[in-house]
Amino acid sequence: MQSRRTSATAAVRRMSGRRGSGISSRRSSIDPTRLVPMDKVTHIGGGDDFNVVFIGAGNIMFGSDEGPWNHSFRLEHKLGRRLKVVALIDPAIDRATAVLQKKCDSFVVSAYQDTRVYKTLDDFVKNMTPKERPRAIIIGSPPMFRGSLQPGRDVEMQILKHFPGVAMFVEKPIATGSYEHAQDGYVIAKMITETKTICSVGYMLRYLKAVQLMKQVIEENNLTVMSTIARYAAAYEAIAKADWWDKSKSGGPIIEQGTHFCDLSRYFGGEVDLESVHAHSLEWDENAGQLSQMRIDESKIAPENRVPRATVATWKYDSGAVGSFTHVASLQGTDYSCEFEVYADGYLLKLVNPYVQPVLYVRTPDDDRERAYSFPDDDPFFSEVSHLIDVIEDIEEDPEAAQILSSYEDAVRTYEFTWAIRSASERSRAAKLKASRDGAKAQKENQTD
Ligand SMILES: NC(=O)c1ccc[n+]([C@@H]2O[C@H](COP(=O)([O-])OP(=O)(O)OC[C@H]3O[C@@H](n4cnc5c(N)ncnc54)[C@H](O)[C@@H]3O)[C@@H](O)[C@H]2O)c1
Repeated sequence: MQSRRTSATAAVRRMSGRRGSGISSRRSSIDPTRLVPMDKVTHIGGGDDFNVVFIGAGNIMFGSDEGPWNHSFRLEHKLGRRLKVVALIDPAIDRATAVLQKKCDSFVVSAYQDTRVYKTLDDFVKNMTPKERPRAIIIGSPPMFRGSLQPGRDVEMQILKHFPGVAMFVEKPIATGSYEHAQDGYVIAKMITETKTICSVGYMLRYLKAVQLMKQVIEENNLTVMSTIARYAAAYEAIAKADWWDKSKSGGPIIEQGTHFCDLSRYFGGEVDLESVHAHSLEWDENAGQLSQMRIDESKIAPENRVPRATVATWKYDSGAVGSFTHVASLQGTDYSCEFEVYADGYLLKLVNPYVQPVLYVRTPDDDRERAYSFPDDDPFFSEVSHLIDVIEDIEEDPEAAQILSSYEDAVRTYEFTWAIRSASERSRAAKLKASRDGAKAQKENQTD
């Protein structure tokens, strides 16, 4: 693994010189020299097979033109010839077979030539040979089929029952069902702890070099976060999945998509006082919410399940700091426009464009001008997978050297937070509708009088 410090990190060290007071005893950040692009590393050492089970044969696992995600590709690079995908579990057998065929037609055939396709985890458990016992299970099925204790939607609990201690990777969000599902999430998190299972959740933005640099500036300068401001503008024209536009399936844009920035807010601001969350939304049936370039037929979605076009939320953190989040589905084309700001005494850390080409603007007490740091070729999806495998393989003597930055329990808290925003915006909307109904009724009564 590369050991050279990046120039941005060196800059932070210079920057932290003036007021630096050392790193806190337990870092919540990782060593930036470990965040290395895939093409700059050789795969992990060792010669034994590393068995993996994939749950879900969709975009997150095998890639698509929707974005850079593709877990199979990163695992191939991390594990090299050690990777053996023993099972691919997906009720859509044809889709699973097709993606496997593509892999078998390529140079990574050794990882997939013996992969067996199953419709359910149960089928795999019944047919698994001792040689096929997995070292890691990667869960990339849609969130409505997981994250709960209900039979059929409890794949994490089934894994923990059949394979206690076998590492899991779970995609975000941990569930979508309802606010109450968070309680199921805590039960799953407890079971993960009790079985000493390594588990990572797919909040990959935490692994961005820029995000880790922000953490370092805060830790090395002993800063206390005063405020976070998050803005996430999605290119809605590029969202062609009908489920995304249906709150009953995706949970809505805050729970499904804005969750990444809600999670970042918590990563920097700490726990949120959920009672303090206020939110407003611009809805599909309001004049300003009309979208001209939707690629799906929204008339097929029940009106009550159509997603808001914009949501604005504010809250207090338990620390006393304040936070805000604006999510808009307003852009056309393909690139999103996202920014995330953190303020502390004398400091502004502004992350711009984290999905496409991250740039971090830093203002310090030394200089009113912001300095910009860019991070070409950063690949947080690879860093996320790489850290998980390093933790499973236990290759580091220093336990902080390889870290999982998003635990299951932590992700449950993000899930609760996103639900608190959705619920607050729905309450505001209901109150507004009631007020206008009451107003109309009063007006009618006045006219009759
Ligand atoms: N971190 C990121 O940036 C990122 C990006 C994309 C997707 N995701 C997440 O990944 C998850 C999957 O998204 P996707 O885009 O791959 O969806 P997708 O629709 O492309 O694929 C999902 C696959 O899961 C299968 N499936 C359905 N029910 C299943 C079950 N019970 N067991 C196993 N497989 C089942 C479907 O048949 C489908 O093949 C979602 O939670 C999504 O939010 C995260």
